[in-house]
Amino acid sequence: MSNQWSKKQEAWSARFNEPMSELVKRYTASVFFDKRLAQFDIQGSIAHATMLSESGVISTTDLESIQKGMAQILSEIESGAFQWQLDLEDVHLNVERRLTEIIGEAGKRLHTGRSRNDQVATDIRLFMRHEVDRISGLLRGLIRALATIAETHYNVVMPGFTHLQVAQPVTFGHHLLAYAEMFERDLERLTDCRKRINRLPLGAAALAGTTFPIKRERTAELLGFESITRNSLDSVSDRDFAIEFCSCASLIMMHVSRLSEELILWMSPRYAFIDLPDRFCTGSSIMPQKKNPDVPELARGKTGRVFGHLMGLLTLMKGQPLAYNKDNQEDKEPLFDTVDTLADTLTIFAEMIEGVRIKPDNMRKATLEGYATATDLADTLVKKGMPFRDAHEAVARAVRYCEDNTCGLEDLTLDQIKQALNVAELGYNDDMIDQTMLECLTLEGSLAARNHEGGTAPNRVLAAAKACLARN
Ligand code: ARG
Repeated sequence: MSNQWSKKQEAWSARFNEPMSELVKRYTASVFFDKRLAQFDIQGSIAHATMLSESGVISTTDLESIQKGMAQILSEIESGAFQWQLDLEDVHLNVERRLTEIIGEAGKRLHTGRSRNDQVATDIRLFMRHEVDRISGLLRGLIRALATIAETHYNVVMPGFTHLQVAQPVTFGHHLLAYAEMFERDLERLTDCRKRINRLPLGAAALAGTTFPIKRERTAELLGFESITRNSLDSVSDRDFAIEFCSCASLIMMHVSRLSEELILWMSPRYAFIDLPDRFCTGSSIMPQKKNPDVPELARGKTGRVFGHLMGLLTLMKGQPLAYNKDNQEDKEPLFDTVDTLADTLTIFAEMIEGVRIKPDNMRKATLEGYATATDLADTLVKKGMPFRDAHEAVARAVRYCEDNTCGLEDLTLDQIKQALNVAELGYNDDMIDQTMLECLTLEGSLAARNHEGGTAPNRVLAAAKACLARN
């Protein structure tokens, strides 16, 4: 049995007289994933030590040693020379132990007035702030890509769908700008989430605060936090900000999955609205003709794992009593994976959107197939005095007439349209129908008529694309 046990666990020393099995050690350790926080751990420790020395808790000589030692550790980590030890459980103890190896006594003073509980909460917040800023930049890149393509194709007509049935003509630019709107709201949410990330929990120590004369505001200032947290118990146990971030990330991925689905549909030969650059697609190992939209499909799939992380974190925190519990160590992997999935997806999507090649002729053809201007015709009858319900009825007949004669509304002559609408049967004089009315039946007429803020008239779309680019 004895070879199952490791040498006496070092971090806790005197309190323990039974060693941990290798399995339990691995089970409880987090160093293999939380070493990712090292740069923030070091940044936090230097700020803490600076504050301690300014408050007279440690000497300036100690502070200088700590600063030098930390600089060395950082370069060891960056070069890959740093020896991470499972025995030392997590990033915090690994860094602290190495510091003491390098600078001796002063290294042992660093943890004065601090606990790993407030230390890890600080590290994650520093990490999250950094990542929120990076992801916001990537999101802006995607928004700009969408708006740039929208600007180029501001007047390209395509079918707008409801129930995935052709509804009314819209422009391709208008359609893309709808996604830009979603991602702009996401950006707003991230900015808001950042406010609650950017508060310093350090000083809470294990849970109750510390007996040392610390200056939390000073540490906050050194680390660029906007404020300090107000309650020590809450400070060490709160992970709301991580959940909020995952919820922002889930919304972003939900939007990405919608865009993905459309790209996939549009690329299928049934639609043939677009082609994606080869570098975002793969072939089939058996069907030589295939070019599959793998990137959007994968993004649609990865949305599930980001939603999963949100649910995981909510469940992690559910029912946890105050204050810190080891459960919280489980916050990191889902967070890291969310950050990585999101950052990769946004980077790839911005590039892919810029590379989309559109097929305007097919879009136009599809728009002409669905009686997409039927509402326009009804609207013109209304403008001639007919109540909308009657106009709806008359146009429904005209659509049936077109179906029977396999033609489109825009193919009808004035006489045919009079016959098709048959307004006399509804008690109206067909003098109300004239040639000028028929202009609305063209796709361009239909688009141009929706000339208001938020409408799909090409001039409005162009202005909206420009405004979006100016905002982002
Ligand atoms: N590795 C731990 C975590 O990620 C650090 C805090 C541990 N604190 C403790 N008292 N065990 O949460």
